[in-house]
Amino acid sequence: MLGTINPEILFLQEEDEVKAGLLDMKQILEITEKTYALLGKGEIQNPPKTHLGIPEGSGENFDSFFNTMPCHIAGDMNIAGVKWAAESNANATTPGIPYGIDITILSDPATVLPFCILDGTVITAMRTSAVAGFQAKHCAPSDTKTVTMIGAGVIGRTMIMAICEAIPTVETIYLCDLDVAKAEALAAEYKDQYNVEIIASADSKACADKSELIIGETTARKPFIDASWVKPHSAIVCVSNEANEEVVKAADVNVVDYWKQMKTFENKAIVKMVEAGELAEEDIVETSELALGKQVRTSDDQFIYACSLGLGALDITVGYQIYKNAMDMGLGTTVKMWDKPLWE
Ligand SMILES: NC(=O)c1ccc[n+]([C@@H]2O[C@H](COP(=O)([O-])OP(=O)(O)OC[C@H]3O[C@@H](n4cnc5c(N)ncnc54)[C@H](O)[C@@H]3O)[C@@H](O)[C@H]2O)c1
Repeated sequence: MLGTINPEILFLQEEDEVKAGLLDMKQILEITEKTYALLGKGEIQNPPKTHLGIPEGSGENFDSFFNTMPCHIAGDMNIAGVKWAAESNANATTPGIPYGIDITILSDPATVLPFCILDGTVITAMRTSAVAGFQAKHCAPSDTKTVTMIGAGVIGRTMIMAICEAIPTVETIYLCDLDVAKAEALAAEYKDQYNVEIIASADSKACADKSELIIGETTARKPFIDASWVKPHSAIVCVSNEANEEVVKAADVNVVDYWKQMKTFENKAIVKMVEAGELAEEDIVETSELALGKQVRTSDDQFIYACSLGLGALDITVGYQIYKNAMDMGLGTTVKMWDKPLWE
């Protein structure tokens, strides 16, 4: 409870979060837009995430990594929080464990007491695709009917939800993966959930050639989308390292989720282009600007590129909504920091 010295913490595991409405993509898209608007209005402090690669110092060749993502959201919400985010290459081939695993802590900024600890894994998947969906809504041509999604993993699953909610004109999704059986299984699972045909494929490039919108949500360590994928009347939206510098260069408009953070990651294609003097920082459009009403697609001929790295504040705003829903529904397990603090 905010503003009290009660040391109780509500612990929410995934199953509680699902009961509390976490899979409601419409709700997550609304929170996403609101959070980016707050960011644009200066109501959010969100220092760039701190990255710890394992083995440390191994640059991009890590086998696993951890990120700390702290933030404070002012205004009506007034909460602080942090996501401890992690991904492991080994998990990608180990059944029974997700590739990315996250945990989120919500804290009272007045007493600094944590009041909720919740699984952040599904929150991350939902909000990552919601950001891509929100960017795609603004960046894709207005008549977008065909989408290629590359990556049929956890984020691929939530991407189907986000794109079907955010872009109602979509009729066909090509769902591509190196592991085509995985794409086929996911396509079968979602075939009746939206009024959209989902076609599994292993040939991302051929599908992309037929699509107005291309979305990358893979674990590829090196970019595989280059200038040959670019065409007018289209958009590419990536949540990871799928597109290379040629794509950034070819774009009429480049959109990022949060430049202050993105620019601290030197391996990102858009950052390399700025460093090389090929793209001016002031020409990059922030997702917060989209949330505050900026129009980036001014003609259907444009090619627009958008990318994201993940905004910690969004994990906290989504987590807080789920916490409030869970409190109303009496969900979760309560634990305590102490019965009485040993020292004060
Ligand atoms: N931007 C963000 O906010 C954010 C947040 C979370 C995760 N991510 C990123 O999302 C990506 C996907 O994460 P996930 O949890 O869905 O992983 P996952 O392991 O569940 O799924 C990734 C899928 O990508 C496929 N793949 C890898 N390389 C490919 C290629 N070249 N072509 C086609 N398919 C390919 C794999 O076969 C796998 O099915 C990761 O790179 C992760 O870092 C981004």
